Amino acid sequence: MATIIVTGATGFIGGWLCPLLTRQGHQVQVLLRRPEQLQALQAQCASRGGEASRLHALVGDLSQPGLGLASTPTADLVYHLGARFAWGLSRAEAQQVNVQGGLEVVRLASAIGARLVLVGGFMLENRVHQRQIGIDPDHPLDSPWARIYDRVGAYEASKLEAHYRAVALANELGVTWAAVHPATLCGHSETGELAAAQPLQALITNLAAGRLKAIPGSAAHWLPLVSVDFLAALLAALAQQPFRTGTSLLALDEHSPDLAGMVAALAEGAGCTAPSRHVPLPLLKVLLCLPGAETLLQTRRESLAFIRSERYDTTATRHFASAAGLIWPDIRQAIVRSGRYGSTALHRTT
Ligand SMILES: NC(=O)c1ccc[n+]([C@@H]2O[C@H](COP(=O)([O-])OP(=O)(O)OC[C@H]3O[C@@H](n4cnc5c(N)ncnc54)[C@H](OP(=O)(O)O)[C@@H]3O)[C@@H](O)[C@H]2O)c1
Repeated sequence: MATIIVTGATGFIGGWLCPLLTRQGHQVQVLLRRPEQLQALQAQCASRGGEASRLHALVGDLSQPGLGLASTPTADLVYHLGARFAWGLSRAEAQQVNVQGGLEVVRLASAIGARLVLVGGFMLENRVHQRQIGIDPDHPLDSPWARIYDRVGAYEASKLEAHYRAVALANELGVTWAAVHPATLCGHSETGELAAAQPLQALITNLAAGRLKAIPGSAAHWLPLVSVDFLAALLAALAQQPFRTGTSLLALDEHSPDLAGMVAALAEGAGCTAPSRHVPLPLLKVLLCLPGAETLLQTRRESLAFIRSERYDTTATRHFASAAGLIWPDIRQAIVRSGRYGSTALHRTT
């Protein structure tokens, strides 16, 4: 059994990954800014079928040099999930945690001889989009990053920059790495459980409040999804086998419906009516530039960047998942359940 470091363990994905890793028998050290979070994390781990006694705190902070670690840990594998994940971040904040923090994690993996699993995002597999915003995926480090941060917002830009810089450093230092690029997270496929800060919850909130009057984009647009439990299982499978450096898995359910279908499934679960009209994305983006519009519509302009029409090649992931014995859940069911869970959670907080 291995010793594994997980950053971002208190987040939505980490909260489902850690129970699986401990159930596989691994000892898991979770990088925590606040070590007092360990007890709650252990309780969550046990309630999700994990082995809580195998979770240990490693006090550290992605924004600190050397991750702020008091001493050098030992581990065979590092999962890097930690990130500042929010709209409206400043470039400095996003770069400090997402880009510099990621580089610190690569240096740690190198120093302790551990394999590394990087968690990026599905836009890293969208070369059309990257070219449109000024990234040449074959020479990404030469990109005009300042302009890209202005154009797509600090979260997305920092995720792109973080991935390319981390991979370059890992290759330079000889770290064996794999990358998993998740689509937007949908709730747990059986319970619909969704964290309050997830983008899909914002959509459910708008839908339930009657603020979503039209579907952004056209019938060709979609927001590809993956259920959090499937993603966690995919990530955990990487701990169970050797992988070649540069392995890249796009964690995206190709059966995700188009945006209208997704909104309809969420509305079905939430027990409300879905809009049927479409609003063109360029028009919506202009509208959201109006003073107060983002607050009024409870929609951030930068969140629209993920709604696109391109399709993705998931062949490598399907092969990997099948070899690992993973079964893709019914994504439409998972969306309906997320809508139900998300709207119930709303009633609990109002
Ligand atoms: N959710 C999605 O739809 C989605 C889609 C594609 C990719 N991703 C990527 O997947 C990863 C995990 O996403 P998630 O949804 O689980 O995120 P999340 O719920 O927002 O959790 C973020 C995690 O990062 C940690 N963190 C933030 N700043 C930190 C710092 N300075 N030092 C140490 N830890 C810090 C947080 O810890 P604290 O408890 O200390 O705040 C938390 O554990 C991220 O890299 C994200 O970009 C997510």
